[in-house]
Amino acid sequence: MSGVLVSFHFISLLLLCCVSPSSLLRIDDLVPGLVSCLPQQSQAFTLFKNEFETRGCNHSDNSNGVWCDNTTGAVTKLQLTSCLSGTLKPNSSLFRLHQLRYLDLSSNNFSSSSLLSEFGNLNKLEVLSLSFNSFIGEVPSSFNNLSMLSYLGLSNNQLTGSFPFLRYLSKLSYLDLFNNHFSGTLNPNSSLFELHQLITLYLSFNNFISPVPSQFGNLKKLEVLSLSNNGFFGQVPPTFSNLTSLTRLFFYRNELTGSLPLVQNLTNLHDLDLSYNHFTGTIPSTLLTIPTLGYLDLRGNNLAGSFEVPNSSTSSRLQHIDLSNNGIKGKVPAWLWELPRLSSMDLSKNSFNGALPNMPLSIVSLSAWGNSFTGTVPLSLCSRSSLMVLDLSYNSFTGSVPICLSNLTYLVLRKNNLEGRLQDMFHTGSSLRTFDVGYNQLHGKLPRSLLNCSSLKFLNIENNKIEDAFPFWLKALPNLQVLILRSNIFYGPIAPPDQGPLAFPQLHIFEVSDNNFTRSLPANYFVNWKASSLQMSEDGSIYMGYEEDSSFSMNGYYTYQDSIDLRYKGLVMEQAKVLSSYATIDFSGNKLEGEIPESIGFLKALIALNLSNNAFTGHIPLSLGNLKQLASLDLSRNNLSGTIPNEFKALTFLAYLNVSHNQLTGEIPQGTQITGQSKSSFEGNAGLCGLPLQESCASTSVPPLQDVNQEEEGEVLSWKAVAIGYAPGLLFGLALGQVIASYKPKWLAKLIYQGSISTLCRTIYGLVTKQFLVISFFVMFLCNEVCICIHSICIRTRNSRRNVNTSMF
Ligand SMILES: *[C@@H]1O[C@H](CO)[C@@H](O)[C@H](O)[C@H]1NC(C)=O
Ligand SMILES: *[C@@H]1O[C@H](CO)[C@@H](O)[C@H](O)[C@H]1NC(C)=O
Ligand SMILES: *[C@@H]1O[C@H](CO)[C@@H](O)[C@H](O)[C@H]1NC(C)=O
Ligand SMILES: *[C@@H]1O[C@H](CO)[C@@H](O)[C@H](O)[C@H]1NC(C)=O
Ligand SMILES: *[C@@H]1O[C@H](CO)[C@@H](O)[C@H](O)[C@H]1NC(C)=O
Ligand SMILES: *[C@@H]1O[C@H](CO)[C@@H](O)[C@H](O)[C@H]1NC(C)=O
Ligand SMILES: *[C@@H]1O[C@H](CO)[C@@H](O)[C@H](O)[C@H]1NC(C)=O
Ligand SMILES: *[C@@H]1O[C@H](CO)[C@@H](O)[C@H](O)[C@H]1NC(C)=O
Ligand SMILES: *[C@@H]1O[C@H](CO)[C@@H](O)[C@H](O)[C@H]1NC(C)=O
Ligand SMILES: *[C@@H]1O[C@H](CO)[C@@H](O)[C@H](O)[C@H]1NC(C)=O
Ligand SMILES: *[C@@H]1O[C@H](CO)[C@@H](O)[C@H](O)[C@H]1NC(C)=O
Ligand SMILES: *[C@@H]1O[C@H](CO)[C@@H](O)[C@H](O)[C@H]1NC(C)=O
Repeated sequence: MSGVLVSFHFISLLLLCCVSPSSLLRIDDLVPGLVSCLPQQSQAFTLFKNEFETRGCNHSDNSNGVWCDNTTGAVTKLQLTSCLSGTLKPNSSLFRLHQLRYLDLSSNNFSSSSLLSEFGNLNKLEVLSLSFNSFIGEVPSSFNNLSMLSYLGLSNNQLTGSFPFLRYLSKLSYLDLFNNHFSGTLNPNSSLFELHQLITLYLSFNNFISPVPSQFGNLKKLEVLSLSNNGFFGQVPPTFSNLTSLTRLFFYRNELTGSLPLVQNLTNLHDLDLSYNHFTGTIPSTLLTIPTLGYLDLRGNNLAGSFEVPNSSTSSRLQHIDLSNNGIKGKVPAWLWELPRLSSMDLSKNSFNGALPNMPLSIVSLSAWGNSFTGTVPLSLCSRSSLMVLDLSYNSFTGSVPICLSNLTYLVLRKNNLEGRLQDMFHTGSSLRTFDVGYNQLHGKLPRSLLNCSSLKFLNIENNKIEDAFPFWLKALPNLQVLILRSNIFYGPIAPPDQGPLAFPQLHIFEVSDNNFTRSLPANYFVNWKASSLQMSEDGSIYMGYEEDSSFSMNGYYTYQDSIDLRYKGLVMEQAKVLSSYATIDFSGNKLEGEIPESIGFLKALIALNLSNNAFTGHIPLSLGNLKQLASLDLSRNNLSGTIPNEFKALTFLAYLNVSHNQLTGEIPQGTQITGQSKSSFEGNAGLCGLPLQESCASTSVPPLQDVNQEEEGEVLSWKAVAIGYAPGLLFGLALGQVIASYKPKWLAKLIYQGSISTLCRTIYGLVTKQFLVISFFVMFLCNEVCICIHSICIRTRNSRRNVNTSMF
């Protein structure tokens, strides 16, 4: 199934038929003479190994070693993976092993080595794998000397240039150039199309920008062809229907146009991925009735035309269909649901309407979010015992939440028109992990039977009419990480009756805003939170870390990742991915009173804290200065008194601060991020002075006599301060971009090699949304920063000029 397995299987087959019988030497017990390697051959091997740093070698890995031919004594096979570190030099002893037939040096660290033309000396090679190294530069023309080669793996390097000239490799059956920087056009006269023995060809994740040459049709033995993630454009030529041996065809993330390629003659095809291109028109019925096809991914095209109805779908083997993001209108055709083996179906982000038809018995995962489905959530789902993932969010479903859905793993019904009570529907042993019924009109109490869901991690019932006291009883759920009760009719205290800490050890997203919560919080309220011990990496990568925990993937085909509307820096990021590496707290819009618990300072992973619109009194806790990751802090509209702690100067990521409408006094701590906030963040505090407010502290207290020189120095200092305040924001933005950029390739590489196509696409899709969010976020942030910067400079200049004038007169 997976690329790696296939290739290793292939290698070991080759090994069996070509290289043995032979003797094996392990790397660490190489004693010449014990076996039949010629002394000078084993010496060459030892010398080769000594050219590198080998501390990273795994000496118990039996697949590494050197093998010699019994009769000639020459080294015929050499495998050293995940071991060597250093530069491969032209005079390396490796190139003296002329009898090598099998060479696997994958996953080493040949930092900034180029692919040396000396490889061309090893012209007996049948298998050459140099994947997962950092080779740079072009493939030298001497590779054409390797005329015995049947396997060439160069994936995951940084090779450049156009498609290498490999005309004379007439035995080549496996060619892997995945994830390099090859570029340019694939010409019809390219040597690629003379490699008639090719069975497997990976050109994916490069920069080929080219029409698809019809000459691909010459490669009749192809079984696996991946051209994904390049710039191939235009139509898929009809000659592709000559590739009748194809079992897997991957074309995702290119710029292909026209109608879907005719592939009905590809009667061995099992996986077809044409996602994220610009295909238009209808989905031909012939596609759905290819007798072998199990996986079909068409997401992210413009296939808005109607479906062609196949004569019969009963013989179809389709298991996994993704039609999401195509702008398809109308009802889901009934026959689609009659596919006898269907187990995952993604219809999300289209314009489907009408009711959901009955689903096949084999369904495991159904995602239909972002359509216009109406009617009730079909009760037929109740008898689908294999169903694990049901995402019907962002539709217009009515009626109640069927109690039979209590044993799914992911139940997401957010943003529909569901009403009625939330029933006590969860039984012992329930496997529920995510339950999101936010933005409906549900009423009643929070069902106590949620206690039976010991796997529950994510609970979101925001924007309903649930009337209940705070669910302290949920503390019995050991895994609860996200609790969102926002905008309901919850009431009473959120502090436990014994005035002890809140006992939700795993909680890191805690949003209870806009309810009717009352009373005060004890000082130790937050001490039990795990979020307090999370370690942040210095580059700020916590924000973009990907947490396996918050997503779900099975066989690569069924995936789900939790998302929330993240309220952050005065903005709402809809459907932000939930990352267990950050924490947010929103208590705003309640009637909480008393002091803000000092223990808030333990929550080191906190990036957003909103306590606004309550009745908090007392001082702003100094411990807030410990929350070094804090980017958004809203304490507005309370009854806080005292000064803004100087400790806030340490909050270098703080992009949004609002303390307006309190009873704060004294000077706003000058410098860094704080002075850069807008004036409205400090309004409504009669006693506050200093930048960015116009009330100067000097003029409200006893005006000191200042001489002009001193004042000018002050101005220079504040210019610096503005610059300092600006720099962290910029760095933060850049860090985010950097994290994303550096994050992508490794991730993609890992995924494609696990053969998890769907995960990969999800991942890419996730990246795009994430990237989009972050970029827009960053742009907004930059604009904001620039405005603030200019604003404070102007005010500062004006203030100081005024002060100068006053003191001169
Ligand atoms: C080569 O050596 C291997 C292992 O010692 C042995 O099994 C095999 O029979 C030998 N082949 C010949 C041709 O001597
Ligand atoms: C070393 O190789 C052995 C055998 O392949 C494997 O079981 C082990 O996990 C490897 N150790 C490391 C640290 O990679
Ligand atoms: C690769 O080697 C370079 C120096 O030779 C070193 O800086 C780097 O950390 C190594 N990378 C890995 C993954 O071992
Ligand atoms: C290979 O050449 C380098 C200089 O490029 C030299 O330092 C090194 O000793 C040579 N190694 C061998 C094995 O000849
Ligand atoms: C490649 O083969 C040609 C002859 O076929 C020979 O002249 C040339 O030296 C070889 N190149 C290398 C690098 O071995
Ligand atoms: C291949 O065709 C292109 C034009 O399509 C031409 O520029 C190039 O010279 C040709 N190369 C060879 C080796 O024939
Ligand atoms: C390949 O396909 C084209 C068009 O589909 C067809 O005309 C041609 O005869 C086929 N070539 C071979 C060699 O089968
Ligand atoms: C499919 O194959 C049949 C014969 O096997 C041939 O007549 C037909 O032209 C082929 N279709 C395409 C699109 O190549
Ligand atoms: C469907 O059936 C009609 C006639 O019943 C036939 O003409 C047509 O070729 C069939 N289509 C397919 C794809 O089998
Ligand atoms: C819920 O599903 C789990 C497996 O996912 C199963 O063990 C359990 O019996 C089911 N419970 C009920 C009440 O159906
Ligand atoms: C848990 O489920 C059982 C039935 O399986 C039920 O009797 C019990 O009341 C449920 N627990 C709660 C707290 O509702
Ligand atoms: C909040 O609770 C108070 C009594 O504690 C009640 O008078 C008020 O109506 C409640 N507000 C809402 C919006 O339910």
